Formats: sequence, C-alpha cells, structure tokens
Amino acid sequence: MAKVHVLDHPLIQHKLTYIRKAETGTKDFRELVDEVATLMAFEITRDLPLEEVQIDTPVSEATAKVLAGKKLGIIPILRAGLGMVDGMLNLIPAAKVGHVGLYRDPETLKPVEYYVKLPSDIEERELIVIDPMLATGGSANEAIHSLKKRGAKQIRLMCLVAAPEGVEEVQEEHPDVDIYLAALDEKLNEKGYIVPGLGDAGDRLFGTK
Ligand code: URA
Repeated sequence: MAKVHVLDHPLIQHKLTYIRKAETGTKDFRELVDEVATLMAFEITRDLPLEEVQIDTPVSEATAKVLAGKKLGIIPILRAGLGMVDGMLNLIPAAKVGHVGLYRDPETLKPVEYYVKLPSDIEERELIVIDPMLATGGSANEAIHSLKKRGAKQIRLMCLVAAPEGVEEVQEEHPDVDIYLAALDEKLNEKGYIVPGLGDAGDRLFGTK
C-alpha cells in the first residue's frame, strides 16, 4: 500500500495557512505556493540515494557525496500544477518537466487526456506528479495511468491539500505511488471542493473567475 506523507515542517504549515485564507490575493497566493513547493521539494527528496566521490578541496583530498540513482522528472497536471513547478525547480534545476492536461467529460464526468508531453526517457526517471489539490483522485489517477502507459516505473504524487476520499482512490488504484501532502483535510463537499481546503487552486493562482 502506498504511504501518505504529511510534510509537517513548520514553515510549510505556516505558509499553507496564508494560502488557505480567503483574503490572500493572487500575487501572494502564487508566491506562497511557489515557496511551499520549494520546501516540499526539499522534503520529498530526503530519501534520494547518494554515492561517494573523491574530490580535492583547496586544503586536501576528501571523500564527498553526490546524488546517485535515477534522475528526476516533474509532471504538473494542467493547469493548477503549473503553480508548483518553478518552486520545485529552485531545488532540483536539472529535473525535466513533462505536462499532462486533462478535462472532465461532461457526460461521464471522468477525466480525459487532452495533452501529454513528456521527457523521452521517463522510464529511467523518478517522476513527481504535482497538483495542488487531491480532491476525488480522478485526475491524479488518470495522470498516473497516462505515465505508466508510456513506460513510467517510479512515480510519486505531491499535492498541497488532499481530501481523504482522493487519497483512498489513489491508494486503491496505484498502491505503488507514495503521496506527499502539506495537509490532509476533512472531506469533500457536495460541489467537489476540499473542506476546509483553499478554494479553486487554479483560479486563485491565475486570477481567473
Ligand atoms: N480543485 C480545487 O482547485 N479545489 C478543490 O477544493 C477541489 C478541487
């Protein structure tokens, strides 16, 4: 079963409070999401493997550590996932970025892929799918399917806020995908919003509505 990691670093929790506040405007919302994405990138990369290398410092030879293992890929789900990309790239600038766009079919209400552009070597990368909100889990599940269908082998999911319903759906459908959150909220309401949540992440990021 996939693990759920709630990243409870005090800076993440403090900034998330301001992200949630209804009175936070677009500029501050965007900056805070960017900052939290950087902090979450720090936490989500905590377990990356290291290897030893020999180097020369100005003083002596030394055995030092560098990242080993798989390269990273960041996969925002359009459009709200875009708000977390730059924050992550601050810490992992060599990561490649792929995009998955989904829309909701008005009849089936299921997410349908309309745009997918990925790094050519996704099967060799550790992929981090990002979307600020994990609500019903429909989009995250579809995005992960879309990556697996194209050869992805190692995937993590990173969201700001999740509803328990969404977490359960992803865990059921993709038990190999660990989930990283800044907060696990109470529930979904009848309109599909996370409660207490932060409203519509895409609208708040881009100033639409
Ligand atoms: N998507 C959002 O942007 N907000 C929610 O609360 C749920 C889904």
